[in-house]
Amino acid sequence: MIAKREIRVGLIGFGVVGRGVARLLATNGPLYAARIGAPVTLAKVAVRDLTKLRPVTPDPSMLTDDPFSIVNDPTIDIVIEVMGGEEPARSLILAALANGKGVVTANKALLAIHGEEIYAAAEAGNAPLRFEAAVGGVIPIVRTLNGAFAANKIDTVYGIVNGTCNYILSRMAEEGLGFEEILKDAQALGYAEADPTFDVEGIDAAHKMAILAALAFETPVDFNSVHMEGITRVSALDIRTAAQLGYVIKLIGVARRHNDTAVEVRVTPSLVPEWMPIASVNGALNAIEVSGPDIGDNLLVGPGAGQGPTASAVLGDVAVIARTIVDGAPPTPRPMNVPVALRRPLPALPLEKIESRYYLRFDTYDRPGVMAQLTRPLGDHGISIASMMQKEKVGKRADGASVVVVTHWAMESDLRAALAEIEGADILHCPTVVMRIIGDEEDE
Ligand SMILES: NC(=O)c1ccc[n+]([C@@H]2O[C@H](COP(=O)([O-])OP(=O)(O)OC[C@H]3O[C@@H](n4cnc5c(N)ncnc54)[C@H](OP(=O)(O)O)[C@@H]3O)[C@@H](O)[C@H]2O)c1
Repeated sequence: MIAKREIRVGLIGFGVVGRGVARLLATNGPLYAARIGAPVTLAKVAVRDLTKLRPVTPDPSMLTDDPFSIVNDPTIDIVIEVMGGEEPARSLILAALANGKGVVTANKALLAIHGEEIYAAAEAGNAPLRFEAAVGGVIPIVRTLNGAFAANKIDTVYGIVNGTCNYILSRMAEEGLGFEEILKDAQALGYAEADPTFDVEGIDAAHKMAILAALAFETPVDFNSVHMEGITRVSALDIRTAAQLGYVIKLIGVARRHNDTAVEVRVTPSLVPEWMPIASVNGALNAIEVSGPDIGDNLLVGPGAGQGPTASAVLGDVAVIARTIVDGAPPTPRPMNVPVALRRPLPALPLEKIESRYYLRFDTYDRPGVMAQLTRPLGDHGISIASMMQKEKVGKRADGASVVVVTHWAMESDLRAALAEIEGADILHCPTVVMRIIGDEEDE
């Protein structure tokens, strides 16, 4: 086969990531070309609104508002999809793959929901699909799971996969301020979107954990089965109390395979022991730990989002596809480490069946017998208390006390049954704060 002299790339989306891709290509073009063996040329750029004022504008001759003209252009070798959303991104990627083009996407929302269809389309179209930027920004977690760790059976992947939440929680811990206050500042500084719902409600982290679980456990993951809780109800008080107990609060995603019979995928604000390396990953950084019997614990840390890191991850994937084209080698269309037809669906483990240690904070009335009314239901449901702390309330609620309980390992269904009894006993000012504690099993 004759080696190609130029790789032509079509860029769909010229927002934060798209502009970063164009900038990095322009800045490091010669180095990038040398590493690939041919220049990579931006051939076309699609945007939604051609009249929009932009910080940088691509050459008008390459600009279009018809992204299908890119995926159907026979002169384009690789399509980069950085427009986001489900449609038309899904249809565009499917069309590009059906046309045999390489596709690189950063679209976690799309892959978490339509991943199986898209992975199958890549295999059917004999077209390479890569998505490193969709999870953990610049952290090379996808190629680590797919490549470097391919000989290992991975049972747990967990970590911090949303930089916005990590930034907010880190600042809450450092400054002792509340969620709303730090969120406003994070928005002003560009660490949080004007509409932060996807980030602070845990949806973005759940998208990433669903993709990681599908990759690590060779199974399709139904996104609807992913349990997610965000950070909007994490209070400065809980952060302080957790610190007194030797923990920091992080939004943690957990993906775990249970004896080849079920898969657990969840995202929750969690208490992390201070001694764990992940506890000191602060600010907008992400950190993902992958453990296995022969590889030990591997913590990958880096910027999980932002223009430079995400564009770098995108262009890293483009380089892999481009080198194959330049070498005249057959495409490597398998996006997951196991071919789609051989992936075995594992059922989702319902949240009630997970086991964890728990942090519980009860805001109680200060009456005789309250302590027994709190602890008896826990004991009756087999939940053993590891430590307990009571604080007298002062000020407005001087009639109350704050009781913090840290449990040993317990089944979520038992905890819920105990909490239902406690909450029915008219001893609480407000609903119980429940957070899971990370450690032991994740750190094995
Ligand atoms: N930002 C990050 O740090 C980051 C990190 C990791 C992954 N990602 C993922 O990367 C993707 C892009 O994110 P972003 O932050 O760059 O988004 P963004 O700033 O909102 O940019 C989106 C771009 O797509 C274009 N677009 C949207 N709909 C279109 C349509 N129907 N036809 C043509 N163009 C269309 C927009 O055009 P206009 O400019 O005309 O509006 C805009 O240029 C998302 O999937 C996101 O989840 C982002």
